[in-house]
Parts: sequence; structure tokens; C-alpha cells
Amino acid sequence: MAQLIDGKKISAEIKDELKEKVAALKAEGREITLAVIQVGNDKASTVYVGNKKKACEYIGVRSLAYELPEETTEEELLNLVKELNARKDVNGILVQLPLPAHIYEDRILLAIDPDKDVDGFHPVNVGRLWIGEEGFLSCTPAGVIQLLKRTGIEISGKNCVVIGRSNIVGKPMAALLLRENGTVTICHSRTKNLAEVTKQADILVVAIGKPNYITADYVKEGAVVIDVGIHRNADNKLTGDVDFESVSEKASYITPVPGGVGPMTIAMLMCNVVRSVGK
Ligand code: GUN
Repeated sequence: MAQLIDGKKISAEIKDELKEKVAALKAEGREITLAVIQVGNDKASTVYVGNKKKACEYIGVRSLAYELPEETTEEELLNLVKELNARKDVNGILVQLPLPAHIYEDRILLAIDPDKDVDGFHPVNVGRLWIGEEGFLSCTPAGVIQLLKRTGIEISGKNCVVIGRSNIVGKPMAALLLRENGTVTICHSRTKNLAEVTKQADILVVAIGKPNYITADYVKEGAVVIDVGIHRNADNKLTGDVDFESVSEKASYITPVPGGVGPMTIAMLMCNVVRSVGK
């Protein structure tokens, strides 16, 4: 039976460490401010934004909330981003995605000052990650690295297989595992014989977007399995991309859903927010 990797506990530890750092910065007279922009009232986004604001409050960071109507134009949003870029008292800017269909998301993300881009989505930060320069890291994959490190799981020299190639999870995940000296393979919807590839993994990161898809047949005995997926099933229960029941019999370590990767995303966002001070 696999050991559980406790994302709730590890994320709480990280937020407590950050709380101390913020208090020390405040003692030096330095305040940190995160601007959070939401356009429209997508239900899930409202929950995420609310959790981000709560996390700011917990660690002692000021959050400025911009709740803009659905019909906000791209130009209006761009102007707000430019105004926030120019403000010395704003350290980080977060535009909650998805944006309404009439706004071109990439244009907005590109407008954010890379040194205020606490999501790590700006191409400059993506480039910094791939060439090994310091920059803001995409929060979910950075959270996975913290889960592994703080559980004492060695990455260097391990066969790491990532399922999924999104810009937000799969690609930065692969870059981060590579940076930790893992031997990295990326699988996606066109990968042939997926199970043959995933069975080579010492560390398997699953961001496939299909509930309970990865069963024990895809997993090597003793592998570390990280489940980035989150879905609500017919009984309104949360479930991941990994079939927890069968895989937990075979893996050495596994993340649960909920309580695995999920809580780490906000903890890593808070890390980026604290790092944004002084940039
Ligand atoms: N929407 C879903 N996840 C995220 C995220 O990590 N950042 C932003 N800005 N929007 C999201």
C-alpha cells in the first residue's frame, strides 16, 4: 500500500514559512500587494479567486480585488494591466483565467510586466524556466516539485514521465523535472502504447484530464504517482485522473484527490507573491 503525500500539510507548512517571511519584511517597512483581476462571474473562478484572497490574508499580504463585468473590453482590461504595471505599490498581478471569449487571453498575459507575473505564464518567465534563469514558476508544477522534495523523494537520475503537454502544467512540469536532473518523457493524446511508456516511470505525473484514467496497468511497482487531475463524479465527490484504488496498491507514494496537488497551487502562488517584492 502506497504512502500518501499530504499536500494539505505541506501547503500549510509553506504558508506558515511565508507568513514569517512577510512579517520580517513588514518589520523592515516593506509591504507586499497582489492585484487580482476577475472578469465576469464564472463560478469556479470566483471560488479560486476567493481562496487566493484568503491565502493572501493568512500570510499577511494585501490583495487588491478587481471584479470586472463580463462585458469589459480587451482595451479596458489592457489599460488596467498597464496601470497596475506602473504602480510601485503593486508587486504582483494575477488575471484569473478563463477570460470571456471576446478577450484574447494571450494578449493580456503578454501585457503583464514579467516581474509582476506571479502566475509564471508570461513567455519571458517560460523562457527563463527553460534556460535555467531565475523567474516566476508556474504554480501547479512548482507545487509538485515541493511535494516530492518535502517528502524526501529524489528526482535526480529518475525516469520521470509526465502525461499532458499544456502550457500551464505539462510543459513547465517537464522543464522543472529536467532542472532537477530527472530523465523526462512527455506523453500526450497521440502517444502510442501509453502504458508501455508510463510503466518505465519512477515518478509519474498525471495531468491527462480524464477521471480515473490511469489504472494500475499503467504503473510500475513502487513508482511515485502524482495526480494533477480534479473532477467531480456523479455522486458529487472529487476524483483525480488516477484510479486511486488500484494504483495505491502498486505505487510507493501517491497523492490523494482532494488534498494532494490542489492545495499546493495556492501555496506556490503565495511563494511567487512573496518573491515579487523587491523585483
Ligand atoms: N485558472 C485556472 N487556474 C489558474 C491559475 O493558476 N491562474 C490563473 N490566473 N487562472 C487560472
